[in-house]
Amino acid sequence: MMKGKHIILGICGGIAAYKSVYLLRLLVKAGAEVQVVITPAGKEFITPVTLSSLSGKPVISEFFTANTGSWNSHVDLGLWADAMIIAPATASTIGKMANGIADNMLVTTYLSAKCPIFLAPAMDLDMMAHPSTKRNLELLASYGNHIIEPAVGELASHLVGKGRMEEPENIVKAVEAYFSSQCDLKGRSVMITAGPTYERIDPVRFIGNYSSGKMGYAIAEECARRGAEVTLVSGPVSLKCSNPRIRRIDVESAREMLEAADEAFATSDVAIMCAAVADYYVENRATTKIKREKDEIPQIVLKRNPDIAATLGAKKRPWQLLVGFALETDNEAVNAKSKIERKNLDFIVLNSLRDKDACFGTDTNKVTIIAADGAEKPFALKPKSEVARDIVDEVVSRLR
Ligand code: CTP
Repeated sequence: MMKGKHIILGICGGIAAYKSVYLLRLLVKAGAEVQVVITPAGKEFITPVTLSSLSGKPVISEFFTANTGSWNSHVDLGLWADAMIIAPATASTIGKMANGIADNMLVTTYLSAKCPIFLAPAMDLDMMAHPSTKRNLELLASYGNHIIEPAVGELASHLVGKGRMEEPENIVKAVEAYFSSQCDLKGRSVMITAGPTYERIDPVRFIGNYSSGKMGYAIAEECARRGAEVTLVSGPVSLKCSNPRIRRIDVESAREMLEAADEAFATSDVAIMCAAVADYYVENRATTKIKREKDEIPQIVLKRNPDIAATLGAKKRPWQLLVGFALETDNEAVNAKSKIERKNLDFIVLNSLRDKDACFGTDTNKVTIIAADGAEKPFALKPKSEVARDIVDEVVSRLR
């Protein structure tokens, strides 16, 4: 469950910080990549050297690195993480988190994080029982944070009561249980096409398009994160995949893409056709570079490329789900609906070039999902990682 997961481990200033060292070790042993963020008070209890040795990464505590002036981006960190665990979570940090008091790196990272957050409170019994702590924890739970309840036992004050941070093994178990509940694509195989295709004119030139592949890659990462085995048939892009469950097949032309997609589709439960496929290829492709100093202007003869989505749609089995994309400049819904029919899609993800900050090269997108039965779901402008989540949610609901 933890393999390859990006975890932020937030450590606050409390005696239980010594247990965070063991927690960090367990997370790393389980295969997670862990970034420690510690509050200034946390460093009074445990040294960054111990933590960076175990995590293999410099520990983050300040907004800026003093000697270089480089900025630690809490926004990037928040987007990188699959989960954030704050252990120990002290009364002070819990209060800041509940009320948005962003005066240290840990709380700013929390406020920017899009991932699930787990808090393991640790404090003395009277602090734990105080109405303000109770109210803050209730508030944090109501925001969707996961509270890992502290145990009853002997505390640092030698008093006995509720306030001992939960044991590291149980914190790991709670996070693993969450990840396993999110694996709604476990046992499923998904084929995704992404990026542009290049159709060669001669050895140095091609016909292509502006597709960056970002949307398809975000969907591949989302499917893999949710447990699917993913085959990503990718046109030429400069992106990388990070999840080991993604098998990437690099292709260049539409015809190469068809061959790879067709083969993968035979054993897939779902196919998501995200690639911007060139409609034509060059029939009279030159084997040597076309030179400028010729009397005649060269003529490029185009031939129609195969429609990959329609080819798969024609052989789709009842248990398979086929999803297409439509990028339109006008008459959007009508064009998208006709593509559902022509390509035998279960649903189509429509984006319009008229929407600002959507489509090619951007990190955001604004889509409407249109189903074969005509049902339409419009979504707001969002980062492509969140759009990917919406699309995969739709896939999962239809697989059930
Ligand atoms: N598609 C495909 N193979 C093609 C063309 C398109 O698999 N040769 C897929 C795309 O990946 C997308 C959907 O079909 O999921 C719609 O692509 P689009 O380019 O919008 O549609 P076209 O059929 O090419 O129609 P047009 O260019 O006329 O809009």
